[in-house]
Amino acid sequence: MSTPLRLGIAGLGTVGTGVIKIIQTHAALLTGRTGRPVTISAVSARTRDKDRGIDLSTYDWEDDPVALATRDDVDVFVELMGGSDGPAKAAVEAAIAAGKDVVTANKAMLAIHGQALAEAAEAAGGVIRFEAAVTGGIPVVKALTEGLAGNQTLRVMGVMNGTCNYILTRMERAGLPYETVFEEADKMGYLEADPTLDVGGIDAGHKLALLASIAFGTRVAFDHMELEGIERISIDDIRHAADMGFRIKLLGVAQMTGRGLEQRMSPCLVPANSPLGQLENAMNMVVLEGDSVGQIVLQGAGAGEGPTASAVMSDVLDIARGFRVSTFGRPAASLERPVPAKATAAAPYYLRMELDDKPGALAKIATVLGESGISIDRMRQYGHSDTTAPVLIVTHRTTRDALDHALQGFAATGVVSSAPVAIRIETV
Ligand code: NAP
Ligand code: HSE
Repeated sequence: MSTPLRLGIAGLGTVGTGVIKIIQTHAALLTGRTGRPVTISAVSARTRDKDRGIDLSTYDWEDDPVALATRDDVDVFVELMGGSDGPAKAAVEAAIAAGKDVVTANKAMLAIHGQALAEAAEAAGGVIRFEAAVTGGIPVVKALTEGLAGNQTLRVMGVMNGTCNYILTRMERAGLPYETVFEEADKMGYLEADPTLDVGGIDAGHKLALLASIAFGTRVAFDHMELEGIERISIDDIRHAADMGFRIKLLGVAQMTGRGLEQRMSPCLVPANSPLGQLENAMNMVVLEGDSVGQIVLQGAGAGEGPTASAVMSDVLDIARGFRVSTFGRPAASLERPVPAKATAAAPYYLRMELDDKPGALAKIATVLGESGISIDRMRQYGHSDTTAPVLIVTHRTTRDALDHALQGFAATGVVSSAPVAIRIETV
């Protein structure tokens, strides 16, 4: 029989148990596809005696993930614990130093330490694979690294956080406020342990930063991302967007321009009848644009046991087959440090603000917009309390710089009672 590929799996939560289920149920299929058995030598998690609904009795147990990562009978260290630093990073570093290959689902770790880890792995002759780290079951890392390798990538964009998409679509469908749906998402187990990672756009930003590195041959530059979450999106915003034929999505866009690398992850209005606008619930969608291929749209489950384990297994099987590729699609040392560029492409913007309900308030806002060079497409005051009135404005196409100038101007008018919500309208 041919030599087995022996795994050490650290992390037996949602993803780890999913991976073990695939290995246990599809043993023959995996061997048939790679020509060698995929086996598990040892596993690790925090609590040994937790019932995980799977049989772990034939695997050795290690309390310490670093000890697991460096065992002689482990060829591939599979890191499924999570966390940008701490045990995950320590164990991955130890695995690399011990000459192991690494498969991980940990976008937080790679978004921050990806360059250093990739350089270390390549120096040691190992590989780091991370299909599961970006949009769960959607094979987008493979698509960019392999399927589109002959293209110059023009743009990467998409909805990359299922929790945010669930919250936004559920708010619209059920007419519920953000806070109620956030609690629902929590009860359904959708939220990360630190929910800010989801609703603050950070998790999706990590994923976009990893894709941008592969797409544009640049070092992962999460620090340079323009980042805004969905916490301030209200049911009113969602209703206004729907009235205008749009849906609000947490949309990521990365592109290389003559000025540098633009990366932004922020709520946007997208046409309701576009593929992105029709993306429901916790699904993810990634749109890739290459100079030869044109546009590719990938859609699927961005999280969950099965989809994420499926992605982990694709990396494991590549290693079993002997297919080895640099972490970000080219030697880590050749990845250029990107020049961060602010998005300058003009777009219409949706603005919502609460104004003091007194004569001249709206005129002051209109004046600030005019002085910022921003033309108003539509403007509406709807309902009001005893003292304030909500106002909705849609601008003609303008730049973010002009908008920021206007937002500063609004603050100086003394008639705006809460910070305005400003959402870019994308005609994707
Ligand atoms: P999870 O359900 O919270 O499981 C984490 C596992 O890691 C648990 O088994 C936990 O042990 C173990 N662990 C945590 N700290 C540890 C430590 N110090 N030493 C040893 N073991 C430790 O997490 P998950 O959802 O499976 O996510 C795992 C990774 O996949 C993360 O990087 C996550 O971002 C990524 N990911 C997850 C999804 C998803 O849908 N869940 C999708 C894409 C990517 P105990 O069980 O004993 O507590
Ligand atoms: N919290 C993430 C999401 C999990 O909602 O998409 C997968 O990375």
